[in-house]
Amino acid sequence: MDLEGNLLLVTIEGIDGSGKSTLLSALKSQLADLDPIFTREPGATWVGEAVRRAIAEQIDPITEASLFVADHAAHLSTLVRPALSQGRLVISDRYSDSRFAYQSVTLKGIVPDPEGWLRAMHDGWSITPDRTFLLVLSIDDALARLSDKSGREHFEKREVLEAVQNNYLAYARAEPLRFVIVDAALEKEVISKFVADGIRLVVKMGKEGRKR
Ligand code: TMP
Repeated sequence: MDLEGNLLLVTIEGIDGSGKSTLLSALKSQLADLDPIFTREPGATWVGEAVRRAIAEQIDPITEASLFVADHAAHLSTLVRPALSQGRLVISDRYSDSRFAYQSVTLKGIVPDPEGWLRAMHDGWSITPDRTFLLVLSIDDALARLSDKSGREHFEKREVLEAVQNNYLAYARAEPLRFVIVDAALEKEVISKFVADGIRLVVKMGKEGRKR
C-alpha cells in the first residue's frame, strides 16, 4: 500500500508476559499487505547485544539505563529514521515507553527523579510514536505465563511488574490520544485483530493529528 510519504511509527508495549511476542507474530501475517518494518528494542542493533549482556549480568542500574538509551539512539539512526523517511510503516516491539516504565523503577532511590531524568535523556532527538498499543494483564496472569520460562530476568518479579504496569497506565492516562489499552487476557485472535484494525486506521488517518 502506498502510504503517500506519511511518516508512521507504531509501538507495542506491555509488561513481561503480556503476550507481545504472540501479537507481533500474528501482526506480521495480518498486516503483510502494508509491508511494514517490524523492529524491536532492545536488540535491533549491535548495541542491543550489550544491553542483553547488561540485563543478564545485572549491572548497575545507571549503566543499564544508559545502554538502553544508547540502543534507542542507534535504533533511531540506523533503522527508524531511514524507514520513516522512506514513508514506511514502522512497528516496534518496545520503544521509549519501556525505558520510562521500567527504568523509573530500577533507578528509584538511585537518581532523585528517575522519570524526569529518563525523559530528559530522550528530549530533543527521540521520536514520539504516533500510536502505542499497551497490553494490560493482571500481574498473576503475567507471572503464570512467565513461569513456563526457565530463569527469570530481574525485571520479571511481581513488585517490579506491578510498578512497571502502573507506570504504563499513568502514561496512557496522560496521553489518551496516543495510547490504546488492549485487554491482554482476551483470546489472542481477538487481540491481534483489534490491534491490526487499529493500525490500519492510523495508517488511513495518515499525518492527521501528528505531533512530532
Ligand atoms: P523483551 O523481553 O521485550 O525482549 O525485553 C527485555 C527486557 O528488557 C524486558 O524485561 C523489558 C526490559 N526493557 C527495559 O527495562 N527497558 C527498555 O528500555 C527496554 C526496551 C526493555
